[in-house]
Amino acid sequence: MRTDTGQVINLADYRPTDFVLERVDLTFELDPTETKVESRLIFHRREGADTKAPLILDGDELALSGLLFDQSDMPANQYTATPESLTIRDLPETGPFELTITTIINPEANTQLMGLYRTGGIYCTQCEAEGFRRITYFLDRPDVLAPYTVNIIADKAANPLLLSNGNFLGGAGYGEGKHFAAWFDPHPKPSYLFALVAGDLGVIEDSFTTMSGRDVALKIYVEHGKEPRAGYAMDALKRSMAWDEETFGREYDLDIFMVVAVSDFNMGAMENKGLNVFNDKYVLADPETATDADYANIEAIIAHEYFHNWTGNRITCRDWFQLCLKEGLTVYRDHEFSADQRSRPVKRIAEVRHLKSEQFPEDGGPLAHPVRPTTYREINNFYTTTVYEKGSEVTRMIATLLGKETFKKGMDLYFDRHDGQAVTIEDFVRCFEDASGRDLAQFSLWYHQAGTPLVTASGTYDAAGKTFSLALEQMIPSTPGQSDKKAMHIPLSVALFAEDGSALQPVSVTGAEYTGNVLHLTQRTQTAVFDGIASRPVVSINRSFSAPVNLHFDQTPADLALLARHETDHFARWQALTDLALPTLLGAARDAGAGKTVVAERTFIDALLAAASDETLEPAFRAQALALPSEADIARELGSNNDPDAIHAGRQAVMQQVAAAGKEIFAALLETMTTPGAFSPDAKSAGRRALRNAALGYLSHAENAPVRAKTAFDAANNMTDLMQALTVLAHRFPDSNEATEALATFLARYSENPLVVDKWFSVQATIPGAATLDRVLALLDNPLFKRTNPNRVRALVGTFAFANPTGFGRADGEGYRFLAREILDIDGRNPQLAARILTSMRSWRSLEPIRAEHARKALAEIERTAGLSTDVRDIVERTLKG
Ligand code: TRP
Ligand code: ZN
Repeated sequence: MRTDTGQVINLADYRPTDFVLERVDLTFELDPTETKVESRLIFHRREGADTKAPLILDGDELALSGLLFDQSDMPANQYTATPESLTIRDLPETGPFELTITTIINPEANTQLMGLYRTGGIYCTQCEAEGFRRITYFLDRPDVLAPYTVNIIADKAANPLLLSNGNFLGGAGYGEGKHFAAWFDPHPKPSYLFALVAGDLGVIEDSFTTMSGRDVALKIYVEHGKEPRAGYAMDALKRSMAWDEETFGREYDLDIFMVVAVSDFNMGAMENKGLNVFNDKYVLADPETATDADYANIEAIIAHEYFHNWTGNRITCRDWFQLCLKEGLTVYRDHEFSADQRSRPVKRIAEVRHLKSEQFPEDGGPLAHPVRPTTYREINNFYTTTVYEKGSEVTRMIATLLGKETFKKGMDLYFDRHDGQAVTIEDFVRCFEDASGRDLAQFSLWYHQAGTPLVTASGTYDAAGKTFSLALEQMIPSTPGQSDKKAMHIPLSVALFAEDGSALQPVSVTGAEYTGNVLHLTQRTQTAVFDGIASRPVVSINRSFSAPVNLHFDQTPADLALLARHETDHFARWQALTDLALPTLLGAARDAGAGKTVVAERTFIDALLAAASDETLEPAFRAQALALPSEADIARELGSNNDPDAIHAGRQAVMQQVAAAGKEIFAALLETMTTPGAFSPDAKSAGRRALRNAALGYLSHAENAPVRAKTAFDAANNMTDLMQALTVLAHRFPDSNEATEALATFLARYSENPLVVDKWFSVQATIPGAATLDRVLALLDNPLFKRTNPNRVRALVGTFAFANPTGFGRADGEGYRFLAREILDIDGRNPQLAARILTSMRSWRSLEPIRAEHARKALAEIERTAGLSTDVRDIVERTLKG
């Protein structure tokens, strides 16, 4: 295992390579413990480069077993090989030359799941970001692009399937029970997009005819017997391909597109050219074993990886600082896809919930960094929600600022101008400047300044002059390494409503640009004056969440209730309901902490129940309305001195009061929100299930007994309903016989299905309260707990740390000490996974002092440990320091 060297990479040090790679020819002789990799590389020295410069190739835990220069042995004094690099001197000043590099690697021993590894008896690779250097010495950086030929030789019986990127060239027997296959990818690509899969898998096949009439073979490979569960992924893939043609004019560019589902994977999925590799969690689904959320994730991630073919693969990143160039943009594209396939406002609500619960805490804590960072120690630690989700929001703001059509023009220009290149954020932004004629220099601060801007608004109405003035102020909090922030260009979608709920259109607006309902806040303080406003307006700001900011705007409960009823933007209705709920929830946390009785505000309860029972609203929206801000949301709003037990108790008390007030409504929803007929995962049916299940949750509060959930558990005929019933039983009545029996029944029914067993672990890891740690410890010893499987580790350890504030954050600090032990254990096998789970400590400073001190000590315990991976060392040091 590689341990930390303290090395830091800086954007300012970027320079192109001295050598240009022309082509790559790889031959793999696969063996579980001794795979031979022969890499033939053709290079020439870059014009203008230092004629004496050596060629330095990257390695990671490699051993060189052969090196040829133009087919002859390379003299030993001309090169130096270490596990981390291969340096070759005295190379030709001009003209191409060929290097043949042989390495022997051990896939079976690869527990990091980076490079070539084994999972479920097959061979598979993961090369992003720097995994290719664990296979062979290479210029392992995204700005080195070349066409690849890949030859794979392997035992035929064990590996009937031999796959790599591009188009299939041919295959044949290879003697001694072996066979080989050859693949050629004509599209020049960086090494991080390389993939190889070999083994014995089942497949489902389909095809897609592109807009120019080419036939593309589509194949999804899964473990034998799981083929029927790949159908939804295939359907999502075809819809993604059609959507990218219709929406962005992007056509697929090979004869074949393959997806392989594997059970051991560090992240969600990987966009390797023509051969996407997926965590099987994001491929496999059927009504009995997948929830509606699982279906939605599969659709989104299939789309995301497919969309990378243009935003990431055809146009890639110059260096890893530009990661958001492909990730932020591709998340934006998959969000738009899901919005078009489902309900746009409901999708937007879900996105914003996710952004606020994941990205806002990152941006407000010690791990805050710009969307386009300028320095890193370990690039794996920058696959963050800031790069992905805030990166997507920045792209969305460009679309908002320029308008749909000009945005499309900018995208067309980007595809046109940069196809086949490795580029930067500056290149990307320039396309929109050129397409629009707008200067985006100030806007670009969104890429460079970390921290969630705080916008404070206040309005004054002048009845005599019929003007409404909206005073706005922006503040960008300081973040690690950045204290002095400039004013940003913040697009705020603003609308005014009259007391009767009708829209008020201003005759003119001065003081700030206001185009198409978007107010441009560009100065630290700015007052927009709306003229021709006939009556006192109720203002809606940041509609559709047009900018990823925190907004402070004092509105009366009555005004919020009006917006919750009359806003034409349904996202803003949800926002108004949330803004109504928050003061009650914050007050409830304070009162519960002080041992006082919690009283929920009446306007809030009425507005919530009105939304829940409003049949003109889609069920999915009503379900979102009923899902109160989470305990983490409340903690974030409180900001400091957080007591998770008080937050939990306060929120439970509020739910209890909503439940009591809405008992009849919830009982009726339980009756009416059924989904008769065969199960369908479509958004409409999913929305009905969500609303019905929300009602079940409230009813179990009102009744304070497990009977109803037990009945629902017994009656469930799909995983969404079953999981909700199980969650209510386990979380609300953990010690009841009903809960114990349901957990046992669930496990007995699904113990052969790892993805469902993960759910069984997670539902227990999230049981509120201090007692859950003992349960988690017992589950670690359960024979079903597999430490080598990232999904299983995330399901138990990750879920406990990220999603159980009262259990993980119990007052005696045992949860934090537990995490420290687990992190050290996981780090020995899989640093990337360990570092990711450790980010669950990012908000430790906002805890009340006693817990904060326990958390700090647990972090210090990790920090003091010798031999940490770079991944964990980087996270633990930043978390303690920032
Ligand atoms: N590029 C992948 C995506 O689509 C992310 C990814 C998958 C990844 N596997 C990885 C990143 C391993 C780092 C390491 O978002
Ligand atoms: Zn991606």
